[in-house]
Amino acid sequence: MSARRKTAARRQAPAARTAAAAVAARPKVTVASLQDLKRAGQPIVMVTAYDFPFARLVDAAGADVILVGDSLGMVVLGFESTLPVTLEHMLHHVQAVARARPRALLVADLPFMSYQVSPQQAVRSAGRLVQHGGAEAVKLEGGERMLPMVEAIVRADIPVLGHLGLTPQSVHRMSGYRVQGRSAEARRRLRREARQLQDAGCFGLVLEAIPAALAAEIRTAVRIPTIGIGAGAACDGQVLVLHDLLGLTEGAMPRFVERFAMLGDAARTGVAAFAAAVRAGRYPRPEHEYGS
Ligand code: KIV
Repeated sequence: MSARRKTAARRQAPAARTAAAAVAARPKVTVASLQDLKRAGQPIVMVTAYDFPFARLVDAAGADVILVGDSLGMVVLGFESTLPVTLEHMLHHVQAVARARPRALLVADLPFMSYQVSPQQAVRSAGRLVQHGGAEAVKLEGGERMLPMVEAIVRADIPVLGHLGLTPQSVHRMSGYRVQGRSAEARRRLRREARQLQDAGCFGLVLEAIPAALAAEIRTAVRIPTIGIGAGAACDGQVLVLHDLLGLTEGAMPRFVERFAMLGDAARTGVAAFAAAVRAGRYPRPEHEYGS
């Protein structure tokens, strides 16, 4: 360990050291252990991450699942939707997250047009995320139409997480990012599709932006864990986009987002302080200099 790291470790408060040790000692999260959490009634925590440092932080904070979501496109790459995200973009970021060797289960999103064409295309894309990216499972969006893709990927021994409700890759069909499952017909369809995805082999379901009462019904109708985002408190777990929960994204947020930290403000303040110190000649000081 370098001298700097040793000093940092000594400075760590005892409570934080105990929490960090508990996280480091916890067993690797697997698809089977997520089922155990559902059975035990323990909420599952899923958070997105897209790079090595945040993957380490999210894992050290005790998340059960790290999702390299295609929200990557919007919160990291600056696209206006998730549609421009490619399998190559995903691979680059999944690899970075996998290098953190998280204890959390590492799930990667299959991006738009990497699985919709055919079951064969879906297996090839999922295989690349696992074989070249280091993902331990993949997520795909959609219901009944995706059943052949789910079955084919599961037959290739790759665990699949389903995603129902507001599915951002269908933004144009849905005419915007709208709450789903409000009509009686849509409720029936979503309940049916949740069961179909379970029977096709999904190990869990993300339920996005649907009424809380519908999510509660789905949760009791399936044996697999349901992980909600804007789907109320009855789900078996919750997921948020990391940059939203840390206050790194700007502009209007969906009503389900809570800011648990304000890192954007902290980052702006830090960089402004550096700029002011440089401009005022207060940085660097003699202690930052190397002797000859
Ligand atoms: O891409 C993503 O981050 C997601 C989560 C919001 C569930 O799909």
